[in-house]
Amino acid sequence: MNATMLSEEIKHHPVMLNQILSIISPQHGGTFIDCTFGGGGYSKAILKYSNTKVFAIDRDATIEPYAKSLIKKYPKRFSFYLDKFSNLKEIIELGIKPNAIIFDLGVSSYQLLDNKRGFSFKSKEKLSMQMGINKYSAYEVVNNFDKINLTKIIKILGEEKDGKLIANRIVQYREKKTIETAEELSTIINKAKKNYNNYKKNPATKTFQAIRIFVNHELTELILGLIAATEILVNGGILAVVSFHSLEDKIVKNFFNFYSNLNKNPSRYLPKAENISGFFKTQSKKPLTPTAKEIEKNYSSRSAKLRYVVRNNNNFFYPTEIYQKFENYFKLQELTI
Ligand SMILES: C[S@@+](CC[C@H](N)C(=O)[O-])C[C@H]1O[C@@H](n2cnc3c(N)ncnc32)[C@H](O)[C@@H]1O
Repeated sequence: MNATMLSEEIKHHPVMLNQILSIISPQHGGTFIDCTFGGGGYSKAILKYSNTKVFAIDRDATIEPYAKSLIKKYPKRFSFYLDKFSNLKEIIELGIKPNAIIFDLGVSSYQLLDNKRGFSFKSKEKLSMQMGINKYSAYEVVNNFDKINLTKIIKILGEEKDGKLIANRIVQYREKKTIETAEELSTIINKAKKNYNNYKKNPATKTFQAIRIFVNHELTELILGLIAATEILVNGGILAVVSFHSLEDKIVKNFFNFYSNLNKNPSRYLPKAENISGFFKTQSKKPLTPTAKEIEKNYSSRSAKLRYVVRNNNNFFYPTEIYQKFENYFKLQELTI
């Protein structure tokens, strides 16, 4: 697949781009890290300003040709790394002082609308849901995990109250045949949830979210990515995150509050003096959201929430409490097939 094909067949509209640009002010120049390159919407908008440099990361090899076209256009100002953003600290050269680090979480339209990737309910291709650099696919998860572990995944990562019922149906079904496609999986879930009557949403939405998060380790990636970003940000640096569902937003909110001292006791492992001011200034307690105009133009932006903070000069300390608070996600990701 080449870059032109990508942009011609499917279009990804960068979500909340105007708000992001007004927060990070690339017109003043500087160095920016785009942790979720995707269709390159953010990177491209920043690079339009001549005194900027962008380091971009994405785990999806299929968007590499598009990143390469930007390298060709801006050889001195744009670099791309095919990697996971949890490795941010190892990827980014020492000595780089980013003005801002940005995360735009979740899947891109390129991933979601490409039937071969098996993210959408109707895909008749082999179940995958892999963003890239994965240990296993959705096919392996739904066909191999036992009922107890499937229930845990669906309940915790999908916040699906019928997790046990759905896991039961999945296990019953695969006793007769393996679950091959996303369409097959969504039919099994729809049957399990036959009394569900929110007609706006497919009854399989929460389970698909859970399996996708599990396959891509999305929540633990987010926590590790935020920690790495915090460690490399310098005084005055901005950390901005666009999230799309409540589990992600909860992590971002807790993380920002923790380091902004909005939580009562930031770290009981440190002497009080070091705890006094934390090192983030949270700009607003409430997240920013897309304008009505943006939602009208791009319906998939409707659930976006943008939070950002500004780093001060205090020393970095490890967020042990954040690990403890979200320990269940790390434990869940340790499950093996
Ligand atoms: C919503 S899209 C980003 C869209 C981009 N801001 C734009 O304007 O085109 C999210 C991208 O992040 C990537 N991604 C998600 N989790 C990642 C991770 N842990 N490490 C690296 N890339 C990740 C996905 O592969 C996807 O391409």
